[in-house]
Amino acid sequence: MATRSLAGRRPSAHLTSLDKIAPSTRSFTTMAENGAKTSWTPPQGNSSQFGVARPTTLTAREGEDDGEGGIKPNAGASLLDKVAIGDSKNELSLDWQKQQGIDRSKQVKLVKVSHMRYQHSDMGTMTKFLKDFGMHIVKESEDKQRIWWRGYGNDQYVYYAQAGPEKKFLGGCFEVESYAELEKASKIPGAGQVEEMTEAPGGGYLLTIHDPAGFPMNLMYGQQPAPCGDYPDKLIHNYEVEKPRVRKFNRFTPGPAAVHKLGHYGYCVTNFEEELSFYTHNFNLVPTDFLYVPDESGVNKDVAVFMHVDRGEDPTDHHTLFMASNPTTHVHHASFEVHDFDTQNLGHQWLAAQGYTSVWGVGRHILGSQIFDYWWDTTGNMIEHYADGDLVNRDTPVGWMHAGDESLAVWGPEVPKWFLD
Ligand SMILES: [Fe+2]
Repeated sequence: MATRSLAGRRPSAHLTSLDKIAPSTRSFTTMAENGAKTSWTPPQGNSSQFGVARPTTLTAREGEDDGEGGIKPNAGASLLDKVAIGDSKNELSLDWQKQQGIDRSKQVKLVKVSHMRYQHSDMGTMTKFLKDFGMHIVKESEDKQRIWWRGYGNDQYVYYAQAGPEKKFLGGCFEVESYAELEKASKIPGAGQVEEMTEAPGGGYLLTIHDPAGFPMNLMYGQQPAPCGDYPDKLIHNYEVEKPRVRKFNRFTPGPAAVHKLGHYGYCVTNFEEELSFYTHNFNLVPTDFLYVPDESGVNKDVAVFMHVDRGEDPTDHHTLFMASNPTTHVHHASFEVHDFDTQNLGHQWLAAQGYTSVWGVGRHILGSQIFDYWWDTTGNMIEHYADGDLVNRDTPVGWMHAGDESLAVWGPEVPKWFLD
């Protein structure tokens, strides 16, 4: 992907620069830009769930005294959003929008994120990977150059793959409220033409906009919803004194972690503020959480943002699009929802057994709370399984948190050094 000339506009602080993470040893530092790279070797020394233990410095409550000469045991709780956020500014996204001078009436109204779009130079290998990742083919063109992949949610497809001479990121795709929203979006600088999707399952209309960093963002309207597939069973959990699972034994079938839907995707960018402004002014995307670091003068500077689709009082995923300031502009990862913790671990085991390369997982994020599991696909894109993510709405205050290893996960394997490259 060609990026605009922004090399001289790097912000003074990046998400990676203060994370005490060693410089990159990765050979493909700009995945989006390196579209022509057809052969790809995954980085060595990947972290797995059986890997090196997390450094104790990541344990925020390490050594906390219980008042009786012991150490407080770990604890978990499902807290109200504003309590969990803690020392934030207690500012609603509506207030934040006012401060930014955002005119909500001019925004293109998104409903949800629907699917990812990629080009792969080796469709055969990717086809095997996506099956092992837990998707299934809903439609394949006769020449096998275009494949639409389903989850078991009500999206016609959650992943579109096309064959091409080079690896290419073709963007995420959001459903918009009406055809009029597509027409509104076509006036945004960087927008193409509205096109009818005559071949894709469910039909509909598609518009592609290139953001200031050069990333394509797709908007869609008119796709017929698909009937949902089979939802996995919910396990019954036994606790210490609450044990409803009597004469019911847990049994599992090994295999891929079936994908439900697309959850989120995101970028590393050199023009963080410009990208944030583009997405929050033009669309009903609002910040859920910011990560910050102090700049040279000690003033806290936002270096990463998790944004959700603002649907008013309706609950929506903690983040749908995220961005982090970085010395290079590249796609970070796309994430797909799976059923639960066991599904995810069984899926991890399945991908490992097939010989794919783990990036990081299984672990539990702090912001968003998701159980995560990151992998390299066979083209060199990072892709994630997640489960049990937070939901937010317009009453959820915007959060701010210091950017660092401690902001990434509460448990899980060691953070691989290239994760934030
Ligand atoms: Fe993610």
